[in-house]
Amino acid sequence: MGKSFQRTLVTAALPYANGPIHLGHVAGAHLPPDIYCRWLRLCGEDVAFICGSDEHGVPITLAARKEGVEPQVIVDRYHAMIVDAFERLGVSFDWYGRTSSQTHHETSSEFFRHLAAKDAFTLRTEQQLWDPEAETFLADRYVRGTCPKCGHEEAYGDQCETCGTALSPSELVNPRSVITSATPQLRDTTHWYLPLGRQQQELEQWIGGHGDWKPNVLGQIKSWFVDGLGDRAMTRDLPWGVRVPEDVAEAAGVDAAGKVLYVWFDAPIGYISATREWADSKGEPELWRRYWQDDGTRLIHFIGKDNIVFHCIIFPAMLQRHGDYILPDNVPANEFLNLEGNKLSTSRGWAVWLHEALDAFPADYLRYSLCATLPETRDSDFSWKDFQGHINNELADTLGNLVNRTLTFAHRYCDGRVPELTEPSDLDRATLATIGDRPAVVGECIDTFRFRDALHEAMGLARAGNKYFNDTEPWKTRKSDFGACANTVHVSLQLVGALSVLLEPILPFSCERIRNMLRLGTMPSWNDVAEPLLTPGAELGEPEILFTKIDDDAIEAQLEKLREEEAKVDPVTNDSASETAYPPLGETIDFDTFLKTDLRAGTILSCEPVQKSKRLLRSQVDLGFEQRQILSGVAEHCSPEHMVGKTVVVVANLAPREIMGFESQGMLLFAEDRNGRLSPVETSGEPGAAVR
Ligand code: MF3
Ligand code: ZN
Repeated sequence: MGKSFQRTLVTAALPYANGPIHLGHVAGAHLPPDIYCRWLRLCGEDVAFICGSDEHGVPITLAARKEGVEPQVIVDRYHAMIVDAFERLGVSFDWYGRTSSQTHHETSSEFFRHLAAKDAFTLRTEQQLWDPEAETFLADRYVRGTCPKCGHEEAYGDQCETCGTALSPSELVNPRSVITSATPQLRDTTHWYLPLGRQQQELEQWIGGHGDWKPNVLGQIKSWFVDGLGDRAMTRDLPWGVRVPEDVAEAAGVDAAGKVLYVWFDAPIGYISATREWADSKGEPELWRRYWQDDGTRLIHFIGKDNIVFHCIIFPAMLQRHGDYILPDNVPANEFLNLEGNKLSTSRGWAVWLHEALDAFPADYLRYSLCATLPETRDSDFSWKDFQGHINNELADTLGNLVNRTLTFAHRYCDGRVPELTEPSDLDRATLATIGDRPAVVGECIDTFRFRDALHEAMGLARAGNKYFNDTEPWKTRKSDFGACANTVHVSLQLVGALSVLLEPILPFSCERIRNMLRLGTMPSWNDVAEPLLTPGAELGEPEILFTKIDDDAIEAQLEKLREEEAKVDPVTNDSASETAYPPLGETIDFDTFLKTDLRAGTILSCEPVQKSKRLLRSQVDLGFEQRQILSGVAEHCSPEHMVGKTVVVVANLAPREIMGFESQGMLLFAEDRNGRLSPVETSGEPGAAVR
């Protein structure tokens, strides 16, 4: 290990709680630090491993709006799912927090307040798009309109996905709010900016001391420096997030209402709040300071490459301005994991969800295969066929086979005990000696974030073990030269013992089972592995099958599932229908009860939105024998233009009622799809015709 330090604080990127996590997240930011921390702990190091859910930001509010629930409902749901999936995968966080927690709100507002007091921000007033109906400012992705370049009608405020042009919302033709379909207006709004330019020198100097960082990380940082750092807004106009502290706003003469901290300001502070919660849980509320404010701590952020600028420039700049904190010692960012040769995309349904993969396969299968394909230096590809190969040829045929044949021999021919090593051959000796440098070699790989190499080096011992077993032919020597057979079993057992520790960071579940078979009671430490771990004469447990092979059907089922998910996605909106199920059937009613509802065909003559309401449309409907005014809460789903001229099913004998000052004389029927989108139930009958 490089320079001296007393403890290590390891963070893994906080996943957004707007959906479950997929294998790309795990390979990018969560499996590598777990391997790293498990290794550090085996080395006897003081380590805190911190993560949590990132529960703010626009996608979460969009998801909430789509489902018609509060954002808290969304984050509660996915936080619970994510926690559970990580636990099943064996990710050994010391603390997994969430940014909606009170500790986090306090910690991040305090951080903001501290920076404001140090004059770290500049205030700036600019025009931004405002939705006059929803009475809210619109982030770029909340605005859609026609692309000025290609005419695509569903371009986003920041980009047209059809022709790829980068846009600003003001360039869109016929812009409309995604929330209400209203035409956005420009309005002044004031925000707190971090003038990063002022800090560029200080940042460059700090990065300059870290020439050992991964080239993909340094490359990105350098290009930011070359372009020159500008001002970045650290607040947003949004209803969901950590509120801008009232006192800070007041001192600045700004109305704090509707303003929150930018999600990339508060999220990394989530590492600090989670560490505080961890310290609190240990009954040592001040302990977190040692991990964040003491030079003896080495801070390491594990992330995916899309997070580099935030962890290598913006968050360090915040920490520098604050003054009380250490800066990261390394940020070993990974590239992206592709899936079956294509970029992962949750909106296109092209992803493998961790919780579903864990329903199908043991955690260690996924850990092994992901570790073997980590996108450490370039994008890599996960494919189910490769997965099958890794498990069948490597886990089962190499590791599983060595463990199984060794223990089986020990039971059949050596009394279920570790045999003595007597007059070992050169090959016995040489094989035993190969263990000696493994902890250092594998440890060096892990220490330098080369986890694929670590796996390869450790598995090398298993491959060598099988070769040795084959070459010494104990099935022959057990009759011709029992001493040689016992030596083979002894040496093989020592290899298996070493593997049960060397592979522990990567395969914690299987290694525990191996150690149980070996009756290795206490967990050896990493460096103990250099010496033989098993004592001659010691009793062994029964051999168990560690890994069962995966058949082609299981792989085909996974591929089929991917194809199905992809097909479910609506190509226009990119919305996946897979999340929600059909609503349960209502209670059974008899025929007479049904007949009480008088349904008629009605033609919509005119339709307009109700002022001051986000949801209501007011329609004039021709029922043939009379005209009706009917209100419907569907403005988020249907535009008035779209309604006019349609003949739809009307509940004609519903008692009239008043809604927002208008009498509604009946009800129009709408069908709800599985994303909760409504469309009118049309009929070809003439106005007034009975529907039954
Ligand atoms: N939620 C972000 C993402 O998934 C990562 C946040 S990391 C933190 O890309 F540093 F901000 F916490
Ligand atoms: Zn376009």
